[in-house]
Amino acid sequence: KYIYKADSILSIMTLEEKIGQLNLPAAGDITTGQASSSNIAQKIKEGKVGGLFNLKSASKIREVQRVAVEESRLKIPLLFGMDVIHGYETIFPIPLGMSASWDMEIMEKSARIAANEASADGINWTFSPMTDISRDPRWGRVSEGSGEDPYLGAQIAKAMIKGYQGENLALNNTIMACVKHFALYGAPEAGRDYNTVDMSRVRMYNEYFGPYKAAVDAGVGSVMTAFNDVDGIPASGNKWLMTDVLRKQWGFDGFVVTDYTAINEMIDHGLGDLQTVSAMALKAGVEMDMVGEGFLTTLQKSLEEGKITEKQIDDACRLILVAKYKLGLFDDPYKYADPERAEKELFTVENRKSAREIAAQTFVLLKNQGNVLPLQKKGTIALIGPLADNKENMTGTWSVAANFERSISINDGLKKAVGDRAKIVYAKGANVVADSLLESRVSIFGKPTYRDERSASAMIQEALDVAKNADVIVAVLGESAEMTGEASSMSNIELPENQRDLMKALLGTGKPVVMVLLTGRPLSLTWEEEHVPAILNVWFAGSEAGEAIADVLFGDVNPSGKLSATFPQNVGQIPIYYNHKNTGRPLPEGQWFQKFRSNYLDIPNEPLYPFGFGLSYTTFEYGALKLSNISPIGNQSIKASISVSNTGKYDGAEVVQLYIRDVVGSITRPVKELKGFKKIFLKAGETKTVTFDITPEDLKFYNYELEYVWEPGDFEIMIGGNSRDLSMGKLNWKE
Ligand code: IFM
Repeated sequence: KYIYKADSILSIMTLEEKIGQLNLPAAGDITTGQASSSNIAQKIKEGKVGGLFNLKSASKIREVQRVAVEESRLKIPLLFGMDVIHGYETIFPIPLGMSASWDMEIMEKSARIAANEASADGINWTFSPMTDISRDPRWGRVSEGSGEDPYLGAQIAKAMIKGYQGENLALNNTIMACVKHFALYGAPEAGRDYNTVDMSRVRMYNEYFGPYKAAVDAGVGSVMTAFNDVDGIPASGNKWLMTDVLRKQWGFDGFVVTDYTAINEMIDHGLGDLQTVSAMALKAGVEMDMVGEGFLTTLQKSLEEGKITEKQIDDACRLILVAKYKLGLFDDPYKYADPERAEKELFTVENRKSAREIAAQTFVLLKNQGNVLPLQKKGTIALIGPLADNKENMTGTWSVAANFERSISINDGLKKAVGDRAKIVYAKGANVVADSLLESRVSIFGKPTYRDERSASAMIQEALDVAKNADVIVAVLGESAEMTGEASSMSNIELPENQRDLMKALLGTGKPVVMVLLTGRPLSLTWEEEHVPAILNVWFAGSEAGEAIADVLFGDVNPSGKLSATFPQNVGQIPIYYNHKNTGRPLPEGQWFQKFRSNYLDIPNEPLYPFGFGLSYTTFEYGALKLSNISPIGNQSIKASISVSNTGKYDGAEVVQLYIRDVVGSITRPVKELKGFKKIFLKAGETKTVTFDITPEDLKFYNYELEYVWEPGDFEIMIGGNSRDLSMGKLNWKE
């Protein structure tokens, strides 16, 4: 029905107006790229704009929409986009943190709350979810995705799209999602942002495409191209990706938008001038040009020269108009911008309560020697570290609509939690990084780390003085918010040396020390694992970070997060991921080194913390795995079950994970692949049996011909609390 309606508008549009719909400039309220757009109001009046992004507030958006629907010839409403990535004003943990919850209900809920807030403020389109699989923590945008696993990533993509788009995109509190960055943006060489990507198609289909496809299957309204090239062709001009895979194989029926100036960047990729690359993008299957105006300024010429057809422009324009119909913008162009609703529904007590509860579900307890945690609300607690009393860095990267002044710092959160039962004493102890040049690069996006000009030793001494009479030390260390995110790749993923010096001094006091880690990427924490008694990874936990962290530190909430990305022992192990291949010369399990085997001379193959890993204040014991049938045939379904007991003193949640290994295949297969998970809650002393249904669907993969098949034969079924410690059963599945 919308195509019919869109076509009736198309029939009265001039060529210029059609091309105008393909143009997406950026307003200046928020900065998410280098180039800027000019004369936007005039262009809107002339019908040269299809949508606008980076504009914040219902009243501004209403005014701009008014210009479009009252002052342009055809009165076509605009799309209003924004990077609503992990919340709008109420900020949830960064996506990598959210994924560590392994909880699809809260993934959906956080997206729902974000959509509700953003839509009240005028936004009808979010550039989320980012579903780029990444196995490289050097890449700064690892913080913005769901980690390394395509199965987990696919479940998260579906849950988030459901949260944003709901059942009905035309409601005034649902917004259109945009899955990004298609494709393979998370696999740049050397982890350097925007760098070349080159991989086999078998790997693309089996290990990287899953979450994008899941988003398409979930009905995502739009897709964003990636900056990188794929197989020698930049994604924004890659017809195989945009047309063959996305539209023909996956049946995507929404529209494709480029990333920020990605068409123009094809000039630097070496594909030709702006006219050439713009025509290339259109022909590849791109409908909307973000910021660069290559479409706006060259498509008419390309048409005149016969380099593109008018049908190609019509096809692109139609999809943009259909999206506007789906959002209900033709019925009511102002439906998403409601200052009164915004006043009432943004950053509400209820949303903040949800953010606090959700954040606590994402923390990963990496170590807890001697049960240092949970802390008691008594005595004196020394809170030390550059991120301990800092609101600006709580929300993490890509929280563009947040007013980070309103975030709860860890110092405030802890003080509120203990009231007058305990004393919290604070010292900064160190700058985030010693190198001021690095720090100035990091704070380009404007979240200052408040550099202290005192010497490192003076700051450490102050921390020691403050901690002198404390019963326990909580050291809040790690990265500042913008050390991850776009254009924030790092070649060194250890804690900055000055922070480690501070930690050494704190450990030297002989008092129990807990490290609260803020990070947007897997770090290499080998030294910390060896020396620090307790490590709680809290990512960047959002606007309510301080209270959520207090909830977990004091045991009001038992941590249950599990890593969605492997933490390496050192940077040299990268890429390191649990679902690797066996190789022809695998190292026998439990061994470090054997000559002529696939290993390193100087370090074991094992990561520091494996995928799926995370401790609890309680302990869980797994029984033996039971299979209902060890010789199933054809489309039969079998059950794999295991008992899980809470053997500790605290109630707690556990993520029970199912992995499968296809022992013999027509191509080499991973040593294990995640195929299911269930988050269960067990009271202290309680036992539950967890059962997974397994069908041949769970055995499927893309073979050498890229057919999605399962192959009969031997399989290993594994269940456990992380990808390393698993109970295993074997079966043979016949055709
Ligand atoms: O959505 C983002 C994208 O992820 C990176 N470049 C800018 C876009 C719009 O802000």
